[in-house]
Amino acid sequence: MEKIHIFDTTLRDAEQVPGCQLNTIEKIEIARQLEKLGADVIEAGFPASSPGDFASVVEISKVVTRPVICALTRAVKRDIEVAAEALARAKRARIHTGIGTSPHHIREKLHSTPGEIVQRAVEAVKYARTFVDDVEFYAEDAGRTDDEFLARVVEAVIAAGATVVNIPDTTGYCLPDEYGAKIAYLANNVPNIDKAIISTHCHDDLGMATANSLAAVRNGARQVEVTINGLGERAGNTALEEIVMAIACHPELPFEVGVNTRELLQTSRLVSTLMRVPVQPNKAIVGRNAFAHSSGIHQDGVLKSRETYEIIDPERVGVDESSIILTARSGRAALKHHLGRVGYLPGEKELDILYGKFLELADKKREITSRDLEVLVGNEASRRDRRVHLEALQVTCGASTIPTATVRVRVGEESFTATAHGNGPIDASFRAIKSVTREVLLEEYLVQAITRGSDDLGKVHVQISHEGRVYHGFAANVDTVTASVESFLDAISKID
Ligand code: KIV
Ligand code: ZN
Repeated sequence: MEKIHIFDTTLRDAEQVPGCQLNTIEKIEIARQLEKLGADVIEAGFPASSPGDFASVVEISKVVTRPVICALTRAVKRDIEVAAEALARAKRARIHTGIGTSPHHIREKLHSTPGEIVQRAVEAVKYARTFVDDVEFYAEDAGRTDDEFLARVVEAVIAAGATVVNIPDTTGYCLPDEYGAKIAYLANNVPNIDKAIISTHCHDDLGMATANSLAAVRNGARQVEVTINGLGERAGNTALEEIVMAIACHPELPFEVGVNTRELLQTSRLVSTLMRVPVQPNKAIVGRNAFAHSSGIHQDGVLKSRETYEIIDPERVGVDESSIILTARSGRAALKHHLGRVGYLPGEKELDILYGKFLELADKKREITSRDLEVLVGNEASRRDRRVHLEALQVTCGASTIPTATVRVRVGEESFTATAHGNGPIDASFRAIKSVTREVLLEEYLVQAITRGSDDLGKVHVQISHEGRVYHGFAANVDTVTASVESFLDAISKID
């Protein structure tokens, strides 16, 4: 069995997507969960891009000690210096530096020549090696780079000290056999390739990121760059859960990964909640329908033998919906214990706030599951950072009435009240809010129940736009109109 290294870039490639931004505390929570999951490398950020990214790499380096902590840079000296400084406390640090290698990147983005690109790549790797022993080089847009030139770059950076060579299909352009052949070409034609690990980094623009990553592994790659839930630039990256389960389900593939698959669902939900991006119901492995059998024929088949329609035992990926864990009689210690189990370790002050919210919820919804707790944490995280707060909401709706909403919101020290009519309670509420805050356009609105039962929490994700920029909001409440309004305010709060 050959080891496939799992390199998670949720905190870098996914986090740079508009709307997915996290604060340092949230990033640490996710990094801790990734460590528990068994990721070999965590790309914690791009320190030169912002003070927030810098601080997150510093803090993650201090508390997450088993995986390698990696920081991204351009092939620019200052970026490399900043990354090295951010990684100073990491037990095992890696600098991930690189430059575009495709004709388009060289000509249009870098206004350079192939010879100069090789030189800049070599200089960046050599400089990074003066700070750390582990340097990964990425050849941006390798998917559209000519194989011979790519081999020249790869040979040069390995000679300069690169320990890992990343061959990104940055634009998600390649087909699996084409990408596999590219990796095989490098494995067979770069004389010093045995001195480095080949890494894959695939984007999903044509829905082939997982297939491409697997093709690469079968042709010599030994590191796969992935994100939780496949989040990432545009259509996203290869999903960690897909690559791990594809390898786990196919014993004929002679590879092993060090991931604890029972943590997959938990990790997916934590990332979805904190990044405020819902998981599509039919998402492979972690979607809420991934193990639901709806047609009578399928249900009958599964009852006779689970394997009739299931290739994965749901428990293997952490699906255990039946575990009811807390009630209104549970104390603070029990809440703290169960929050820890879902990967969240609040400080005492935050625990007090969460406990109050927990009791409010437990009064309305008798049994609180781990899923409810995750949402409670996400809800509080979004409320904490909000600039516009809901003080009061009253709606009238139903057959033969004109839907009307009155809202009172607080912005800083000031409160504003407005009333509006609309097509329904949500429309009326949003109109009232807009009249006292900002003129925004609602781009997307999604309500999901968390588990089951009409007393369940409703999760609302909204996407709004304002002056050409997109903002995401998230909230959950047993009252879906309140959740909708809170989620709308969460998004509006992010407008500068
Ligand atoms: O997609 C890409 O090429 C990247 C690199 C920066 C590794 O994300
Ligand atoms: Zn990428």
